[in-house]
Amino acid sequence: MISFKNVVVELLDEKVESLSQDEIESLIETPPSYDMGDYAFPTFRLAKEYRKSPNAIAEELAASISENKFFEKVQNQGPYVNFFINRAKLAEDVISEIMDQKEKYGSSDMGEGKKVIVEFSSPNIAKPFHIGHIRTTVIGNSLAKIYEFLGFDTITINHLGDYGTQFGMLISAYKKWGDRKVIEENPISELLKLYVRFNDEAEDKPELKDEARYWFKALENKNPEAMELWQWIREISLKEFNRVYDMLNIKFDSYAGESFYSDKMPTVLEEMKEKGIVKESEGALIVDLEEYGMPPALIMKKDGSTLYTTRDIAAALYRKKHYDFHKNLYVVASQQNLHFKAWIKIVELMGHEWAKDCIHIPFGMVSLEDGTLSTRKGRVVFLEDVLNKAIESTKNIIEERNPNLENKELVAKQVGIGAILFQELFNQRIKDYTFNWDRTLSFEGETGPYVQYTHARANSLLEKGNFDLEDKINLEKLTSDDETNIIRMLYDFPNIVVDAMEKNEPFYITRQIVEIAKAFNTFYNSTQIITDDEEAKKARLALVYSTKTVIKTGLGLLGIDAPNKM
Ligand code: ARG
Repeated sequence: MISFKNVVVELLDEKVESLSQDEIESLIETPPSYDMGDYAFPTFRLAKEYRKSPNAIAEELAASISENKFFEKVQNQGPYVNFFINRAKLAEDVISEIMDQKEKYGSSDMGEGKKVIVEFSSPNIAKPFHIGHIRTTVIGNSLAKIYEFLGFDTITINHLGDYGTQFGMLISAYKKWGDRKVIEENPISELLKLYVRFNDEAEDKPELKDEARYWFKALENKNPEAMELWQWIREISLKEFNRVYDMLNIKFDSYAGESFYSDKMPTVLEEMKEKGIVKESEGALIVDLEEYGMPPALIMKKDGSTLYTTRDIAAALYRKKHYDFHKNLYVVASQQNLHFKAWIKIVELMGHEWAKDCIHIPFGMVSLEDGTLSTRKGRVVFLEDVLNKAIESTKNIIEERNPNLENKELVAKQVGIGAILFQELFNQRIKDYTFNWDRTLSFEGETGPYVQYTHARANSLLEKGNFDLEDKINLEKLTSDDETNIIRMLYDFPNIVVDAMEKNEPFYITRQIVEIAKAFNTFYNSTQIITDDEEAKKARLALVYSTKTVIKTGLGLLGIDAPNKM
């Protein structure tokens, strides 16, 4: 595709002596409205060279740059030179590119040969997979898809919370009160019950704590009974989690969780000692981070057991060695900001310059409408239940609106789950947000169902108009305001994907496809697409095809399906 911006730079570069191409490029702005052109170049910086007022310079420059095949008008407005894209040229260029690239439009090979690890979801074994986990799961999945689309070699890791002293408690509790059968029928809630009971009873009977410690040590020492129980708990929990991952169509390349690093601790501790960054404090090992404005990080407890922080350091070292990553991303709630800041600092202090490539991608909290946050108040809202409820509600809506739809079950699943994902990915990730059922499932407004519906509408137009990609189509016909509006956004799409990757913000894509859908519906309402004028019809259908394709790609990058009918 042509870079119209580059053309602007070149046109200006021919006339302007005192600025380099890069300087010109960095000065170019997007005017507040397209009535003022597609690109604007402010002339203030040229006053010295020209010894004239910026307005006079702009006028002179605009007059000297003649119309050309890329820009139908070059005009000054005050101190700005405004460039108006040649609409026919834009249409020809963008639509033919999309028809040629199809689903690959917007993809790139910029990431070739670079490995990016996206660690996300990472729930704790034997604990509920609840609504609080939705954000990391959905944001991480989308980021992985975005990197992949841009050609990075992407590795997804689920860093399961499958290790730590709580497993000592679970094992003791199970040995006292557990029943294998009962647990297997309802793993998470039964294991949770055991865990809660153990903690309750331990308040009066401190010896229980010793028992738990004993069993955790046993686990660390690979005692067969402890190992067998732990493995079993891990397996049945994972089976529960996998139901949700299946619903969301999420796959991980690795489930190497915290336990995976347990035998890698001694070398890590060794390295830290060697580099002189740990010190003893009351029998424990710590790294002093006062200089960096952080409290000391606990690396090893008095009893020799290691901690969450130590395991993260071990994991980063392992990943560097094993994958040699270009970037190692952690999609984890902002509550853990300090944790990440601390251990990444420690890796840096260990002398690893790649510490800077370990990047924490924080996000804000999700709360439910009645003000409760999932587990804090003991009210657990399972993610699976939320997804099922969305599917159920969507089924009801389909029954009302379109009872004869084929594949109702599948579509209800695609739309119901899509609605939740879309809502999740609609805002900047750091913002807290409140989950609202009505807004999420609505077919109106800026929602997943609205965008999916627009996609289905485009599809039915293509079917109705017998659109054929191989036809000869005069794309230069697409120059109305409504047509050009869509085309501009389709043109921007590839850059938006790159922005989303650079800032690790899927919401750029969410917003862009909502805007495309809105512009498309405006066009749909103002324009007769399937008209007797064959030439116009074909061109408009090519635009419909392009819109449909980009929406589908965009949804796909968010992890959302785009059904053809709904
Ligand atoms: N299991 C942790 C939790 O549920 C999240 C793990 C985040 N990842 C990491 N490498 N620390 O809070």
